[in-house]
Amino acid sequence: MSREAGKPWAGRFTERTDPTAERFTASLAFDRRLALHDIAGSAAWARALCRAGLLAADERDAIVKGLDTVRAELEAGTFPFRTELEDIHMNVERRLIELAGQAAAKLHTGRSRNDQIALDERLYLRDLVARVGEGLQRTQAALVARATETVEAPMPGYTHLQRAQPVVVAHHLLAYVFMLQRDRERFAACARRADVLPLGSGALAGTGFAVDREALARDLGFAAVSPNSLDAVSDRDYVIEFLGAGAITGMHLSRLAADLTLWATAEFGFVEFSDAFATGSSIMPQKKNPDVAELIRGKSGRLYGNLVAVLTTMKGLPLGYNSDMQEDKEPFFDSADTLEAILGVLPGLLNSLSFQTDRMRSAAGESFATATDLADYLVRRGLPFRQAHEVVGRVVRYGLDQGKTLDALTLGELRRFSELFEADVTGVLSVDASLRARAVTGGTAPEAVRRALETARGLVARPA
Ligand code: ARG
Repeated sequence: MSREAGKPWAGRFTERTDPTAERFTASLAFDRRLALHDIAGSAAWARALCRAGLLAADERDAIVKGLDTVRAELEAGTFPFRTELEDIHMNVERRLIELAGQAAAKLHTGRSRNDQIALDERLYLRDLVARVGEGLQRTQAALVARATETVEAPMPGYTHLQRAQPVVVAHHLLAYVFMLQRDRERFAACARRADVLPLGSGALAGTGFAVDREALARDLGFAAVSPNSLDAVSDRDYVIEFLGAGAITGMHLSRLAADLTLWATAEFGFVEFSDAFATGSSIMPQKKNPDVAELIRGKSGRLYGNLVAVLTTMKGLPLGYNSDMQEDKEPFFDSADTLEAILGVLPGLLNSLSFQTDRMRSAAGESFATATDLADYLVRRGLPFRQAHEVVGRVVRYGLDQGKTLDALTLGELRRFSELFEADVTGVLSVDASLRARAVTGGTAPEAVRRALETARGLVARPA
């Protein structure tokens, strides 16, 4: 008789699972990372069953104690993982039965792996989002520290990657602090929406026992109880929202890494990576490559891919649990690991950068970067902006032809283009004057940047 022994669902089966099917359906290799959350959920479920009169106090205690032993085995690396038991839920339960005996055989009363996995993922997500949030905060703190040193340091600001107007380095760095703040808010919102207890939904229709789900939610620290059992077991929005927030964060960090990679080129020469965050070439002895930054830039690809993978898996699934949903885990965990890896290395990289501020300052003054200031000068003298733009455009053309920068032009030369130019025009042409003029909230004047820095410090110090 080839009855399927050993599997919790063996009763109605007469044939063994084909080994290829067993390997194909097993999720243990990746869902084992949910083990500790699975144990926490099971202990709470045992307490709920006891409150509902379905477990005696000594049975509950035997289960909770047995789960403690399972946890200790996991932590010691002695837990016997068995692939033939498919997933982490059945592995933990089987081991518990071995350790705690008949009481443990009652644990799965009124519960399904469908509400169990939704619970485990939500518990995992709660811890994960806290870690990612801290990593983002540490990254923001590093950017704020570097911004504090560079409030007075000019660099060219770019549009179309062409020099446009001077900004201070701190202004550029703080742009990322505010981007990462939105990322922190997105992760926090994801965690808030995920803060709903799915356990008690059973397989799909709600558990058949009078479990006090509100008490269970309090036990597990959830703010609310899912109001629809079908939704609770079918929903993976929390994974998708995490992946969405992760994709956007990846995009932001990719842009930061791209800026740094560009700035480290000889062509820019704005920044030097410390040896500790660069690598060499196996053939070209002179090379110092910004690999860490390049990989941060590149990892946005998998963060996007993971989001699209789960969105695509979920699309068109009939309501209720479907095994397709097991495919959510590898993308979910890959994005978790990717984000944690990036956020683990990035603060140190930022702290170790040397900004070549002399080079940045001189670049900020080249390429007619204060031409807008010259047009603004004419506007202040009453010329409509469109005409001022035209006049200064001709001044720039003249400068290009003569090989002269704006501040090298004499008043006499300028007055050939407009009588409105006076001796005080020299005051608006310097990089520093251009910066100081932009004291509006959100502008790049050092005094405005100092205020933004205060705002940023406040954000970094607080939970999102
Ligand atoms: N391993 C499954 C998953 O990851 C757990 C839920 C399985 N439920 C089921 N009825 N097969 O989605």
